[in-house]
Amino acid sequence: MTMHSRCVIRGSINIDEFFHVKKIVRPGETISSLELSRQAGGKGANQAVALAKAGANIVSLVGSVGEDGRWVVEYLKDSGVDVADIQIIPEPTGRAVIQLTDDGENSIILFKGANYASHPKKSISSGVTHVLLQNEIPIEDTLTYLNAQADASAFPITIFNPSPMLSDAEIELFTWNKLSWLIVNEGEAFDLYKSLSGDTPDIPIPDVNGSSFVNIPAYSTLFRLSSCIPKTNIVCTLGAAGVLALVPSLQETADASTALNSDPIFLPVAKLQNGVIDTTGAGDCFTGYLVAGLMKLHDEGVKALRREDVMSILKRCVQAAGMCVEKRGAMESIPLAREVDAMMH
Ligand code: ADP
Ligand code: NA
Repeated sequence: MTMHSRCVIRGSINIDEFFHVKKIVRPGETISSLELSRQAGGKGANQAVALAKAGANIVSLVGSVGEDGRWVVEYLKDSGVDVADIQIIPEPTGRAVIQLTDDGENSIILFKGANYASHPKKSISSGVTHVLLQNEIPIEDTLTYLNAQADASAFPITIFNPSPMLSDAEIELFTWNKLSWLIVNEGEAFDLYKSLSGDTPDIPIPDVNGSSFVNIPAYSTLFRLSSCIPKTNIVCTLGAAGVLALVPSLQETADASTALNSDPIFLPVAKLQNGVIDTTGAGDCFTGYLVAGLMKLHDEGVKALRREDVMSILKRCVQAAGMCVEKRGAMESIPLAREVDAMMH
């Protein structure tokens, strides 16, 4: 049976402006930039492009830009993103003003702009199977999409990347029981666990089969976070150390005695060809490939998630993210599915 998955992303769209400077400007100082470059950005837009490049068929981005952002919308469209629900409003497009030095130091000013404007689309269209969210738009809108039902029969699969981190009040408001997949880095995992567990003392960590995971420092954080939101699958990216996932919705097969749902999945990073150039966008690239992998399973009619399915999706994610860190830039450094697949053979 072939299904047709559709993903909607309610998220941010930015113009990233890079000022190439000798040194980061100090208070009261005026300096000249050697170069100015402009790129499309914002987590919503980055992840939408990653999904489209990863081969997901229908990827719709719901968001807002100003008149100054028309070229960004064109760029997204050319990248394969459905832009019909991007509204153009009389407010400036969200911006990141980035000072970059040759030593790789940076300092960033963010302006939310149009990303925080009210958007008329408050529900998801019929046929949407996946909803992908970040935290660069008003939290009310994120929650509206998290709780939305596309069809009377089913809720979509929801994926959330809490970046930037939510406030304690937002974490309390958040409908965690509606969340299928959480994608965090190590710092975000720790912050979320601390906030969700409140004053309860640290939850004890059981011995894991084979127990090699216990040596990964993030394991205890991930395990504790998972015990706060037990139904949500959690994928924790560890930068150069790879990725760790706890997937409670796994359907274990015959050899269930050797692998429990509570056993984490670990994958190291991909072998790089050229070394690390620029890690911006790696997390967004990873997320896009993860959701594309989930959509592919859905299209294949897979209902029961198996450990090997998750492993093979994550393998593709680390390969794609590895290729992303070998290139400068965020969106434009995200590799195409065929480039990723070519490296995996
Ligand atoms: P974020 O940018 O969201 O904090 P991470 O830094 O954890 O996310 O990176 C996301 C993924 O990108 C990692 O899981 C890994 O696969 C890849 N990655 C990041 N840094 C490196 C690196 N130095 N070498 C190889 N892969 C990397
Ligand atoms: Na990059």
